[in-house]
Amino acid sequence: MRVFQSPLELKNELRSLDAKIGFIPTMGALHNGHISLIKKAKEQNDIVVVSIFVNPTQFLKGEDLDKYPRREQADKRVCELAGVDYLYYPNTSDMYEKDEVSVLAPNVRGYILEGTSRPGHFSGVLTVVMKLLNIVRPTNAYFGKKDAQQLKLITLMVKQMFMDVNIIPVDTMRDSFGLALSSRNDYLSEDEKKEALKIPASLKKATGMIVSGEYDCEKIIKEMRSVLAPLEISYVAIVTREFEPLKRVELNNTIILVEALSGSTRLLDNIWL
Ligand code: PAF
Repeated sequence: MRVFQSPLELKNELRSLDAKIGFIPTMGALHNGHISLIKKAKEQNDIVVVSIFVNPTQFLKGEDLDKYPRREQADKRVCELAGVDYLYYPNTSDMYEKDEVSVLAPNVRGYILEGTSRPGHFSGVLTVVMKLLNIVRPTNAYFGKKDAQQLKLITLMVKQMFMDVNIIPVDTMRDSFGLALSSRNDYLSEDEKKEALKIPASLKKATGMIVSGEYDCEKIIKEMRSVLAPLEISYVAIVTREFEPLKRVELNNTIILVEALSGSTRLLDNIWL
């Protein structure tokens, strides 16, 4: 595995290859969820590139930028073992200049749900993803379905900016108790981890209701909220795959999303129906 820090050097190296490139952008603290993205990319491409960059522009003031888990050596080892060909590990000054052009997330999809509690977050995500895709120029780029709204906005950006890359969604990985894998799970104490299981339990409740014929979103959300109590809930929402609000569940066109805090850790989860 070759490690690059300079965007220009990586760009030159990758442009000199005649290969189908699969790309996984990450913020490090790699877990099995990331490994499943890498595995998929290895199956579908000649070369796999991973980036590790804790992107400051997607953290709001007062968020966990400084304490976000950073595990350079362990992450490099994970990438090596998973068969990654190129690891891009830039510093902030390699990625950002003083006066920056940025990509603005659209109002409706960018600011509902997670965008409401974290205004500006998605513009930071889109800006860095645009930069990374321009550096790597992959054929396929892989993103987890757990960050469903991020995935939707990146798909829109790529389409609207006429970018030549396929955005490939990958299913959420869970631990043996059902908790969706996330680098932020590192922050949870044992008790908080137990409490956090109310999140997948609320999604299970929703699926159970739907299977028994209850399609009314208001009723489903009410039941989910009672399963989540006493966690602090940022939102529980049922939307179409285009992120339009729904009154009744539409099979094959519904995402049920939850964001809640266990302790002070914000956790996301969802299911796609
Ligand atoms: O999902 C993430 O880890 C980040 O938001 C991403 C896509 C790597 C951009 O910094």
